[in-house]
Amino acid sequence: MQLNRLTDTYTLQNGLQIPVIGFGTWQVADGEEARKSVLSALEAGYRHIDTAQAYENEQSVGQGIRDSGVPREQIFLTSKLRNPVRGYEETLAAFDESLRLLGTDYLDLFLLHWPRPRAFHDNWEHMNAESWRAMETLFEQKKLRALGISNFRRHHIDALLKTAKVAPQVNQIRLAPGETQDDTVDYSREKGMLLEAYSPLGVGRIFEVPQMQELAEKYGRTIAQIAIRWSLQRGYLPMPKSITPERIRENARVFDFELSADDVQRIADMKGVVGYARDPDDIPF
Ligand SMILES: NC(=O)c1ccc[n+]([C@@H]2O[C@H](COP(=O)([O-])OP(=O)(O)OC[C@H]3O[C@@H](n4cnc5c(N)ncnc54)[C@H](OP(=O)(O)O)[C@@H]3O)[C@@H](O)[C@H]2O)c1
Repeated sequence: MQLNRLTDTYTLQNGLQIPVIGFGTWQVADGEEARKSVLSALEAGYRHIDTAQAYENEQSVGQGIRDSGVPREQIFLTSKLRNPVRGYEETLAAFDESLRLLGTDYLDLFLLHWPRPRAFHDNWEHMNAESWRAMETLFEQKKLRALGISNFRRHHIDALLKTAKVAPQVNQIRLAPGETQDDTVDYSREKGMLLEAYSPLGVGRIFEVPQMQELAEKYGRTIAQIAIRWSLQRGYLPMPKSITPERIRENARVFDFELSADDVQRIADMKGVVGYARDPDDIPF
């Protein structure tokens, strides 16, 4: 697929268009930091913002969106259900709170953030099914345009699909140089999902990797640009985070060069250089 600009889109299984790079907001403090970084991202041309209830910054993310003057319908906005919340009524209420904080009347995408939260460790299948049912209601009410999951592996997907009537459109997982989660990627794709790549810069660890520095020199690009371009060429949807305006702009300039197939493979093979995803069955939150 030929990608030319930040506003190019992937098409989800349900027909919804999703801009090919998302702007990450984890560890972005509520208040001016979140407001300004979202504003910078929208000024730089990003049209896809990723937040979560757990990030505690939805209010300022929403403020940044409003301050940008970009019409809401031109922005693809995602949030995620907080881990300690599961259940039908509880999910409806939590979703409404996200809308209130973000200052919008719909979300483009809402994700189950983790499959097996500590609070529901032994009855996670049932509790996810109940939350999913609530998300289906929100979808019918047109308050939500797509449903998705995050950090789900094969057995979590199978459990969800036993009762889901509306199919998940994306699986947001950790995908970065050397961290390709092949089984989860293959299985998610088999089930029609797009892979969103979180921590595409390894939460900053990518900048310490000598092989990435070599590639940056070879292509005359920055390490961040090589990693984001790699993500796109793998067919993922990368969502880099930065609170630094120049980096925000830099991370979007990835459409005027191409990595060779050998280098795409070489980057995939850099096993463990930025660490690995947490085991979603064994998270302490
Ligand atoms: N679903 C999940 O469970 C989950 C988990 C983790 C992340 N996510 C999502 O994915 C997004 C991205 O992942 P992430 O926040 O973990 O980390 P990341 O995007 O892999 O890395 C962010 C770090 O890289 C730095 N950085 C960004 N661009 C740079 C550049 N061009 N040059 C040098 N440094 C640069 C940032 O610094 P500054 O900000 O200081 O500029 C920050 O320290 C999150 O924000 C969130 O939206 C989802």
